[in-house]
Amino acid sequence: MGTYAVQLPKRVVFGDGVEEKIGAEAKGLGAKKALIVTDATIEKAGLLEKVEKTLKEAVEVNVFDIVESEPTLAAAETVAGAARAAKYDLIVGVGGGSVMDMAKVASAAASNPGQGVSEFMGANKIANPSVPKILVPTTAGTGAEATPFTLIIVEGKKKAIASPYNLADVVLISPSFTATMPAKVTASTGMDALSHAIEAFLSTGSNPLTDSFALEAIRKIADNLEVAFSHGDNLDARLKMSLAAMLGGMAFGNAGVIVGHAAAHTFGAKYKIPHGVAAALALPYIMEYNAPVARDKLVKVAREMGEDVSKLTEEEAASRAVARVRGLLEKLELPTRLADLDVPEEDLQELAEAMSKEKGYLARNPRKIEHEDAVKIFERLWSGE
Ligand SMILES: [Fe+2]
Repeated sequence: MGTYAVQLPKRVVFGDGVEEKIGAEAKGLGAKKALIVTDATIEKAGLLEKVEKTLKEAVEVNVFDIVESEPTLAAAETVAGAARAAKYDLIVGVGGGSVMDMAKVASAAASNPGQGVSEFMGANKIANPSVPKILVPTTAGTGAEATPFTLIIVEGKKKAIASPYNLADVVLISPSFTATMPAKVTASTGMDALSHAIEAFLSTGSNPLTDSFALEAIRKIADNLEVAFSHGDNLDARLKMSLAAMLGGMAFGNAGVIVGHAAAHTFGAKYKIPHGVAAALALPYIMEYNAPVARDKLVKVAREMGEDVSKLTEEEAASRAVARVRGLLEKLELPTRLADLDVPEEDLQELAEAMSKEKGYLARNPRKIEHEDAVKIFERLWSGE
């Protein structure tokens, strides 16, 4: 192994009631005027009020609360416009992955008046450092609070802004903030976190540090996701899922995700399937596809998930990891094949072609993927065989 590096948020504040500390954190960043970026569901859940109240004791506050899920370029431009409408020196994102992504856009826009959001797209295109931002996740899954990425839908496809300026200055994680999530969202976002951890672990971009984040995330999700799903008010399970999701973000924010996310972005965008549901569905299939070149890693995944593999061959133990993930999908009542989501079988060729264009994800996949392989992956995703 040669040299490697990881980039992480500057500061993470963790624990029950940390939202009370947001005013102090804002002051610590030297802020005077803050824009809260959020959406209507957060407001309805009463979470916006909690953040706004303590933040207002420290700084002047305005609110932008119309973030839509899976934002388009036009939606991102609207957020950027709001961030430039006054002299904000702090952006606070309170919400799920889409909200946190839009908070990243807002903080970049505030310090880069000469650049449109489309000019941020790609790697390292944001010219000036973003204004400071505090991210407060309300789901436990996307890991967006810990990554340098923003995902935006451009012409029906998910495109990324990748920049160190997207990393949070402060991440505030309160378990009670994720306790308002419905069971269905807990399941899909929790499995998204698992897919980040497993894909980052299998990625050719992984390194010893990202591996330690990924394996710890896998273990925590295996131990806590079913409890958080069936007993949403269990704050211990909620806190551990939040920690796992952030660790997953730290892993894939540096090691990248692989073919599972390439597939999920392709069919998720086309049929408007929530990202977590799509990534979860793809996960066991891409583990299986990569098994011939990543058995040792899959054995580690099985062990972290609590499987006793001591009497199994390497091949059997690796299959155990795949079976465990598939079993988890069923227990969480998530779809396990595209046929169940009304995806027409005649679209599979087109989907395989679209996935083959996701070169960044495929380049990090440990097993090479030719066009015929992409078709076979989609046939299996569809039929479930
Ligand atoms: Fe994801």
